Amino acid sequence: MRKNIVAGNWKMNTTVPEGVALAKEVYEALKATKANCDVIICTPFTHLCPVAAVIDQNVLGLGAENCADHKSGAYTGEVSAPMVASTGAKYVILGHSERRQYYGETAETLREKVALALENGLTPIFCIGEVLEQRDNGTYNEVVAKQVEEGLFNLSAEDFGKVILAYEPVWAIGTGKTATADQAEDMHAHIRATVAAKYGKEVAENTSILYGGSCKPSNAAELFAKPDVDGGLIGGAALKCADFMGIVKAF
Ligand code: 13P
Repeated sequence: MRKNIVAGNWKMNTTVPEGVALAKEVYEALKATKANCDVIICTPFTHLCPVAAVIDQNVLGLGAENCADHKSGAYTGEVSAPMVASTGAKYVILGHSERRQYYGETAETLREKVALALENGLTPIFCIGEVLEQRDNGTYNEVVAKQVEEGLFNLSAEDFGKVILAYEPVWAIGTGKTATADQAEDMHAHIRATVAAKYGKEVAENTSILYGGSCKPSNAAELFAKPDVDGGLIGGAALKCADFMGIVKAF
């Protein structure tokens, strides 16, 4: 059966000492609590090695927020999937809307990134989601299905089964405007049906689909209670241990 997961996306926040302190705080809090879900933090590249050194990933999983679309070579400033894997990280967020919007990531580059992540034993947390205009003009179901199809449907069923999906409506990210639990459930069910049509019901039922976008302790329980919402990808609220743990405890 699919896993329930709460994953933090720290984005471009915290210095290395601040990030190590936050990771330690979350790790200690998790050891003191019995979490009813998998818990992951995705940090800036610079934080991966020092954070990996202070946590046990059986308790708290570690991931990057991106990786390059090439394995190695003359790509100044890029960080490859093998490099991420060599830090000890196990996950990588791919296709976040901020990467698509500000750094021009396309389905083609994302397919390369997903393939390299999988080749290097990293679990992709693959993000999809519509912008406000697409929510308002009613094209959101097609837009999101297309992102899943174009980014992932080249994979074998076995490889697809290793991917975690994260539905993040762009209009809800960092805006304080959460999708309602019903809006999230409708989309998650639609995504699961899209996956089922391609890979069959069993693969679809085993795929974890996280919700992201202004998820916080006060709304997490209602979102996670929905049958197709298997957890959250948390931005702002992942930067404070108490808030992040409040979301973890929603399961
Ligand atoms: P917020 O939780 O800050 O809205 O961010 C969500 C997000 O983008 C996680 O990837």
